[in-house]
Amino acid sequence: MPALNHFGLDIGTHSIKAVQLSGSFERPNFVSAGQIPSPGKGLVSESPVDQAASADAIKRLHHEAQFTTDKVITALPESQIFTRVIEMPNLKESEVANAIGWEAEQYVPIPISDVRLDWQILSKANNNQNRIEVLLIAAPKLLIDRYLKVLRQAGLSVVSLETEITAVVRSLVQKLEGAPTTLVISIGASTTDLSIVSAGRISFTRSVGTGGLALARGVAQDLGFELDQAEEYMKTYGLDSDQLEGKVMQAIKPIFDVVVNETRRALAFYAGKHAEIPVKRVVVTGGTAKLPGLVIYLAEALGLEVQIADPWQGINLPPNVSQHLREEGPSYAVATGLALKET
Ligand SMILES: Nc1ncnc2c1ncn2[C@@H]1O[C@H](COP(=O)(O)OP(=O)(O)OP(=O)(O)O)[C@@H](O)[C@H]1O
Ligand SMILES: [Mg+2]
Repeated sequence: MPALNHFGLDIGTHSIKAVQLSGSFERPNFVSAGQIPSPGKGLVSESPVDQAASADAIKRLHHEAQFTTDKVITALPESQIFTRVIEMPNLKESEVANAIGWEAEQYVPIPISDVRLDWQILSKANNNQNRIEVLLIAAPKLLIDRYLKVLRQAGLSVVSLETEITAVVRSLVQKLEGAPTTLVISIGASTTDLSIVSAGRISFTRSVGTGGLALARGVAQDLGFELDQAEEYMKTYGLDSDQLEGKVMQAIKPIFDVVVNETRRALAFYAGKHAEIPVKRVVVTGGTAKLPGLVIYLAEALGLEVQIADPWQGINLPPNVSQHLREEGPSYAVATGLALKET
């Protein structure tokens, strides 16, 4: 019987989030969840000192959240790996396995011998184009080794490694049966990940190097604040033009529009390939999803229905779960998706 016997760990550049569930993917029960600030540069850093600090923080989080297992599944950040839907000639599964290394060389910017490749055929060829779509994931072996080392240092036993987009999609789209074609925007501190999911499958991915930290820097620069104070202003006033004479909004807007423009391009690219299954809804997740005014701003900019993600939906939450944890939902989408992987 497949079951949920581990916890999900999302090691972000701003904070580390973790969720433990029990039961099954179909009927998950909440066990515990927690988050702590990321120390220093986190796992993006190659320095052993930074890595030891991350291991310590993970250990502390595991203890504070009172998880009942040492088994963990974590996600590699999209900014450090390569996830893309590529087209290939109409080959059989075994032929794709043989050809994928050659194909990947065209797309992956580092030598194929230095990465671990994973792939999945998404669509069969249709009549008018004799090509198939394949989801290609390439992760540097050095990055994988670093993650395994730090998790071992934290005293954990690694069940598997996934990618952030895979986890978010499991949590927000695949859990809701019959969801329409959905664009997921995950806005963290350093990175924004975009994915388009149709019939439960990832059809498009993109990672953009802009997130909440860039917004806070914009506020710091325009209004002459320290970064911490700027972050507080960003969180309080966001994209609301009625506050502080719109000063915070004006500082944030041009930076946030980088994300908006990338999203528009993603939608246009996807529509060009899959006109028959248009994107029907947009779901926003990640800590920066809580930016005041974000839903209205995005809905107007994209002309689509926009929702803030609720990864707790469909999970059996005990009645005493804090209001705080409910409100922090969008921050836990990756960790919840990891916790939902049946092994
Ligand atoms: N209420 C809020 N309004 C706007 N932004 C917020 C709010 N609360 C947190 N943030 C921002 O969310 C970001 C942290 O989100 P999250 O925990 O998803 O990031 P992360 O996973 O550590 O980052 P990354 O995935 O990019 O490495 C920070 O930039 C923080 O300023
Ligand atoms: Mg993150």
